Amino acid sequence: MTDDRPRQLGRTPPMGWNSWNAFSCDVTEADIRTAADALVDTGLREAGYEYVVVDDCWMAGETDSEGRLQPSADFPNGIAALADYVHDSGLKFGLYSSAGTETCQGYPASLGRERLHAEQFAEWGVDYLKYDNCGDHRGRDAIDRYGAMGDALASVDREIVYSICEWGEHAPWRWGRNVGGHLWRATDDLVAKWRADPDEFGLGIADVINRMAAIDAAAAHGPGGWNDPDMLQIGNGPASGQSEHEPVDVQRPLTEAERRSHFAFWCLLAAPLMIGADLTSLSAFDRDLLTNERLLAIDQDPLGMQGTRDRREGDEEVWSKRLQEGAAVLFHNRGDDAREISTHVTDADVPAGSDRYRVQDCWTGNEWETDGSLAMTVEPRDSAVIRVTPR
Ligand code: GLA
Repeated sequence: MTDDRPRQLGRTPPMGWNSWNAFSCDVTEADIRTAADALVDTGLREAGYEYVVVDDCWMAGETDSEGRLQPSADFPNGIAALADYVHDSGLKFGLYSSAGTETCQGYPASLGRERLHAEQFAEWGVDYLKYDNCGDHRGRDAIDRYGAMGDALASVDREIVYSICEWGEHAPWRWGRNVGGHLWRATDDLVAKWRADPDEFGLGIADVINRMAAIDAAAAHGPGGWNDPDMLQIGNGPASGQSEHEPVDVQRPLTEAERRSHFAFWCLLAAPLMIGADLTSLSAFDRDLLTNERLLAIDQDPLGMQGTRDRREGDEEVWSKRLQEGAAVLFHNRGDDAREISTHVTDADVPAGSDRYRVQDCWTGNEWETDGSLAMTVEPRDSAVIRVTPR
């Protein structure tokens, strides 16, 4: 199966905000308006975060008599008015449904009613659909279910980014593009922890990084279709009440080093950057991290390559990502003590054929030159990121 649909959308990894991590099932129309305002006021819109996505629980418990989705009482002005508000803020509007009979929280979803719902989305002014994997699948396989919505979206008179949320269960990087997807979740739900307790729901940031290194998904990744390791957890954590039942040692916000590593890895992976935090309480540190221009340029590089792991030895990891000009190299320290981590341009995905390279530290902006040796001192659980350009 090939997809010959035009791919103007998603030429670079989509960026925006999603309601799920901060508001879960309590989301209201007012929260979405506030989030749109905050994207503008914090400068996040200016930095490129453009999609405002309402996740699960926006819909009423019953469809209308013809099977159309209806907004819940928490969206009193309806979805079209909310989309207008978001558009008037210079942003784009996203909505959620599921490729099953119900959403993950038990609300009506779209299996078997794809055309009807895609028409609703288009009429309402939806620019982005997150399509989850919950509910009864009625015996239909993933490609068939996600393909049905991909065809429905292609049939309506509006360009809608198609975000497949299949949790990586049936290797969606192998078929996501062919069913019209612009991004597909490659991993299970991410929570605001460095490592998750295996007995509890969700994966930690280090767990997802390991999974992204292990799966054979990088080749499928590029302009028009992206592997999605889930929302950014920067700004989330126990303070938002998410982790109140956890053991003491993980009942703390992610450290600054862990948050830097989280963002650095997502940019090196050229991941979609969907912020999951309540934007009204974002710290200055988190805001500055999310708007770091040097990191965002790596994520949004037009070549669209996913970075890959060059080596892992004990607590040291080196990853690299080819860029349109030069490459980005990430040095990660998994250990508890600061250490120097080194590599050489010939071992990283840096264009060959030069004997001088310009190097820039993406956190400090400092620049220097090298004949090819690269070394950075990295604090525990932190990551150094450099941009290396042949002279
Ligand atoms: C699943 C998805 C999450 C979120 C919830 C909503 O768990 O993977 O991203 O959309 O459902 O119920």
